[in-house]
Amino acid sequence: MTVDRNDLMDKVVALTKRRGFIFPSAEIYGGLSGFYEFGPYGVALKRAIRDLWWRHMVELRDDVVGLESTLIMPAAVWEASGHLTNFVDPLRQCLGKCKKRWRADHVMGEKCPECGGALDDARMFNLMFKTYVGPLEDRASEVYLRPETAQGMFVDFKNVINSTRVRVPFGIAQQGKAFRNEITPGNFVFRVREFELMEMEYFVRPQADDEWFSYWRSERLRWYTDVLGLNKNRLRFYDHPKESLSHYSKQTTDIEYEFPFGWGELEGIADRTDYDLAVHQEKSKQDLTYLDPETNERYLPWVIEPAVSVERIFITLLLDAYDEDVVNNEPRTLLRLHPSVAPVQVAVVPLSKKEELIRVAKDVIKALRGQFRVEYDQTGGNIGRRYRRQDEIGTPFCITVDFDTLNDQAVTIRKRDSTEQERVKIADLSPRLNSLAG
Ligand code: GAP
Repeated sequence: MTVDRNDLMDKVVALTKRRGFIFPSAEIYGGLSGFYEFGPYGVALKRAIRDLWWRHMVELRDDVVGLESTLIMPAAVWEASGHLTNFVDPLRQCLGKCKKRWRADHVMGEKCPECGGALDDARMFNLMFKTYVGPLEDRASEVYLRPETAQGMFVDFKNVINSTRVRVPFGIAQQGKAFRNEITPGNFVFRVREFELMEMEYFVRPQADDEWFSYWRSERLRWYTDVLGLNKNRLRFYDHPKESLSHYSKQTTDIEYEFPFGWGELEGIADRTDYDLAVHQEKSKQDLTYLDPETNERYLPWVIEPAVSVERIFITLLLDAYDEDVVNNEPRTLLRLHPSVAPVQVAVVPLSKKEELIRVAKDVIKALRGQFRVEYDQTGGNIGRRYRRQDEIGTPFCITVDFDTLNDQAVTIRKRDSTEQERVKIADLSPRLNSLAG
């Protein structure tokens, strides 16, 4: 069944709250706009996204290494990178009743979209959060929470090439928190003020950028369709026109998703040339060049950067997976999540509270734990209700232990999407689940 796109976001937001995926930050104190907390299933989904990214961007490759740099970096880094001057959005404030602030490029015309009041002239607003290190709040102790992880990779470039055996072309990957004082956070966790970035800086020979740019565009799209299982028809490339490029970019392609509020950026792939290494070399007065061991040439490598936040993938996955249908004349809500990302991959449900069944069910879950994200569900009434609870959080497989199990040492695998059931010997359960998970 297809869900009305106008209601989809509200339904997903309600489900995430109801089932403990996402809560507003510090809700008992009224929340904080643009900040969210992740509950038990939300954490599981976030970890799955992060792990799959790391696996495909680092572990399954021989040309990418990892890095974790600090969340707070000195002002000198952001001055050199251009963020102090250029990481700005145009801001307009309502002079009428509501006094709301808007991103100028998000409002059409001269009137406030909220109350119709007049808007003041646009001024530039820097999105970085500033704080101070040490007891004095003076110029010299000013530091910034990072708005991107990328600068850590550039600042540490020399450390990485001097301490590892990487050879161009190679990448440095990082996952971690980033902070942006967005003027208008919104669309749930699509645009937030604290989020988790996953970025990879891929260093290539100067002028070899076009070839690698095109490689990473297709590679990243393939990850969304083949690994995360997103609907191909809701994904597309958007090539930025020259005038909308970030200050460091020669060319940028967004992988866009068709959200209920329109097409929007899921991931950005940017060709940063040698912009960042060059500015850091100039400002730090350190030699950041790379010596090519084959040609003996010295150069500043150029950089292709795929960058995406966990939160944006999170909301995309939920919107893509949300569905409603009718089973045995009863409506159900389900998340058709790919097994690779489902917060619970296998739920084990004994048919009744009879001790013999519970004992077997606990043995089954013990055998599967560690291989799959599992949950044991003995509570909550009849089996149908328990299946529906699992459908709603996207669990692809429920294992039912029933009275026949005691005789045939077999259990039933119930599949979320089709609701089909299959009888499998307990001894064959793990390979069968692996093959079903694909
Ligand atoms: N280092 C490049 C960079 O930061 P960006 O396009 O500003 O580029 C990269 O951000 C990705 O981070 C976006 O494609 C999006 O997935 C995510 N992102 C950016 N701002 C965000 C926000 N306020 N909330 C959630 N995710 C955000």
